[in-house]
Amino acid sequence: MISFDYLVIGSGSAGLSFALEVADSGTVGIITKKNKAESNTNYAQGGIATVLDDTDSYDKHVKDTLTAGAGLCDVNVVEKIVESGPKTIRKLIEMGADFTSKEGKLDLVREGGHSHNRIIHAADMTGREIERVLLAKVEAHPNITVLEHHYAMELITEHHMGSKVTKYTDDKHCYGAYVLNTKSDTVERVLAKATLLATGGAGQVYLHSTNPEIATGDGVAMAYRAKARVSNMEFIQFHPTALHHPEADSFLISEAVRGHGAILRNTAGEAFMENYDERKELAPRDIVARAIDDQLKKRGDDFVYLDVRHIDKSVMLESFPNIYAKCLEHNMDMATDLIPIVPAAHYMCGGVWTTIDGETTISGLFAAGEVACTGIHGANRLASNSLLEALVVAERAAVKAREYAGKSLLNETVPEWDDSGTVNMEEWVLISHNIRELQQIMWDYVGIVRSDLRLNRAFRRTRMLHDEVESFYQRTKVSVPLCQLRNMISVSYLIIKSALKRKESRGLHYTTDYPFMKEEVEHHNIL
Ligand code: FAD
Ligand code: SIN
Repeated sequence: MISFDYLVIGSGSAGLSFALEVADSGTVGIITKKNKAESNTNYAQGGIATVLDDTDSYDKHVKDTLTAGAGLCDVNVVEKIVESGPKTIRKLIEMGADFTSKEGKLDLVREGGHSHNRIIHAADMTGREIERVLLAKVEAHPNITVLEHHYAMELITEHHMGSKVTKYTDDKHCYGAYVLNTKSDTVERVLAKATLLATGGAGQVYLHSTNPEIATGDGVAMAYRAKARVSNMEFIQFHPTALHHPEADSFLISEAVRGHGAILRNTAGEAFMENYDERKELAPRDIVARAIDDQLKKRGDDFVYLDVRHIDKSVMLESFPNIYAKCLEHNMDMATDLIPIVPAAHYMCGGVWTTIDGETTISGLFAAGEVACTGIHGANRLASNSLLEALVVAERAAVKAREYAGKSLLNETVPEWDDSGTVNMEEWVLISHNIRELQQIMWDYVGIVRSDLRLNRAFRRTRMLHDEVESFYQRTKVSVPLCQLRNMISVSYLIIKSALKRKESRGLHYTTDYPFMKEEVEHHNIL
């Protein structure tokens, strides 16, 4: 048994900033399933949206966020997060974050849906810079232990002590997590007074995603099994511009490239965005992704092009060194070549329901970052609002977690993990095949454009996968691939179920059966 005052699951921007905020009031254990830097955060390119320019205002940032969110944002949450932006950025700079400056001022760029230049960035590797400074601080703190290659399997609640826990149980508590140490292959009880879920997103449930392998939706699946409230899972954001190349693995071409004037062209060389939205390439992501999807379907093409040939090469090299180098690695010179791109799954707007202070519906369990649904993004996230949300909500959650931990005791009656009756099956082909099948189903039937027919088909197919994998899970010794597959099926189920419940098109959820947004008061899908 291992115990801490605070257990943090995940070492991205949300987990690390929370850990730093609580570390002076107790011991902190950060568990992370791979090496400590591996996270969506580490791959973030464009930057963090915040109001720093004198001619910009909180009101404008709030308005842009609400417009993108298509009527489903919580205005109070949006205002609070937006207004915390400058302070959060200053804190990162004080920690040593080296954001790009021009003429002695932070360089502010633009992305889709923003009415003003307000994205601060570290060239096109903003996430790596944030991860670097946060990790350096975490590693220097005597109260924080980082356990790499530790995989959280289940949140511990009264259920594990033999009580019946349902979604109707009012007073549920989280006492930590069962964690698989993947080096020693043992399951450990990690007890804590307060636990933060900071496990990031679930892009891996789709065949094509900008997200790294860690993004398998473990946090949402664990919280759902523990009977926490999960909401708005139908809103999956597809980033319009991922590199289309057999070896590039949906590498992201930042929206900031369009902010610098890049043009989208079909394979006939025609710029097409003006046919879809007056903001053209800088329309919000859902509109741009759907426009590309429409071009692909109409023309029977596999990709469209991003054209930056008219932008000065030195500007591209200075602002996008990482993207430029990646394209060159695949024999494409952005200065002279058109870059083939396709949309790819990018961000989960829904997640574990929380207050703006990261409180979930289970006492002692907090959530922040992409795993959480605070209400800031509504039906569609505004570009570069997620790092901002992760950092602000983690800080606020730390205040509540400190209060909670201060009046709680560790629950040492938690039993050990029981794996009696399971054997090592060595049937890994079943797992890899099922993962591929699930990703294909989600890509084909639950993607950018949906219909009841496709969603119902996806529902039936994932149910079959669910039944097969549950029975396998009951008989098999736990492993990370098996747990991830099980979680990815749960998350897919939640996405499909929520999508089926929404009988309208709103934000990221577009269905040909109900192509319009309902006029009446919007609803949130709570599962
Ligand atoms: P993450 O950074 O994803 O961290 C999750 C952590 O949890 C990881 O350490 C992971 O290993 C760990 N974990 C997961 N499951 C388990 C488990 N079961 N057990 C133990 N550990 C676990 N947003 C912006 O605002 N601006 C941008 O410019 C931007 N660019 C992006 C570019 C790319 C390519 C991608 C993929 C995303 C981008 N985003 C951007 C989104 C943003 O990066 C993420 O939403 C944000 O970083 C999420 O932070 P997080 O701390 O919630 O999760
Ligand atoms: C990007 O750089 O395009 C990603 C920004 C984001 O996802 O917010």
